[in-house]
Amino acid sequence: MLKGRHLIEPGDFSLEELDRLFFLAGKIEDDGRYLRESCRGKLLATLFFEPSTRTRLSFEAAMLRLGGSCLGFAEPGSSSAAKGESLSDTIRTVSCYADAIVMRNPKEGAALLASRVSLVPVINAGDGGHHHPTQTLTDLLTIRRRRGELGNLTIGFCGDLKFGRTVHSLAKALSRYSGIREVFISPPELTVPGYITKGVLEKEKIPYSEAEKLEDVIKDLDVLYMTRVQKERFFNEEDYIRLKDFYVLTKDKMKNAKKDMIILHPLPRVNEIAVELDDDPRAVYFKQAQYGMYVRMALLASILGAVPC
Ligand code: NCD
Repeated sequence: MLKGRHLIEPGDFSLEELDRLFFLAGKIEDDGRYLRESCRGKLLATLFFEPSTRTRLSFEAAMLRLGGSCLGFAEPGSSSAAKGESLSDTIRTVSCYADAIVMRNPKEGAALLASRVSLVPVINAGDGGHHHPTQTLTDLLTIRRRRGELGNLTIGFCGDLKFGRTVHSLAKALSRYSGIREVFISPPELTVPGYITKGVLEKEKIPYSEAEKLEDVIKDLDVLYMTRVQKERFFNEEDYIRLKDFYVLTKDKMKNAKKDMIILHPLPRVNEIAVELDDDPRAVYFKQAQYGMYVRMALLASILGAVPC
């Protein structure tokens, strides 16, 4: 049962629990009235110490659609963090007011720390370059709805694989399904960390490879997961400028892709997918953002105990 549980990283929920969440999210997509008002009287705190559009707004939209209410901040400068309050004190306090907390924080491990002091469930909405499990729920639901299953696919992750937390979470989450191959496409400076390749994929015996050129591998992929270069995690501007346009997916590059390959992107997009591709039926990134709201509705209703899951 997910009632009362935290979600800090993708492995926190079993595959059966994920299946049930995806089933609920599918029902919400198919029937706009399903679970409406099921969280009336409940309060969700959204504490964003880093910028966000989709994650924060889709959580808030999800909670409002469930009939609940939201409070919180989108700007740490407007909270007591600006006065020097510790994260644990902020979380302890907010957990006296709300029924669940969604938090994004620039420090790796912040969500885990929050879950240890909170009186209510904590959902990690991104902790530095570490994990982003609800983006992973979004990505898995998108793949499942578009391809019918989560196993038996070759996925290419392209871009900033060093700092991209959505990549770390999805690469780890997919390693639990069978028939998965992972291809990591990045410049040498932005390769995927060893705690994912050695710590997860090799342990789980998931075949993976690394490449520098997207053109060399695009024809093998069933899913292409594009990411932006994570400017805010760079130590110097020059490196960012040198690497930011390393990959730009264009119509021309898509000529060699499979006819049914899907392109995912957690968004925001900067330059890495040409706008000319937005009308390509394989480009599903905006639909993916919509799935994010459905799966967050399913997640909130489950952890708040509004639906057995
Ligand atoms: C991602 C994030 O914050 O990690 N955005 C999101 O939540 N959809 C990806 C990114 O910022 O590049």
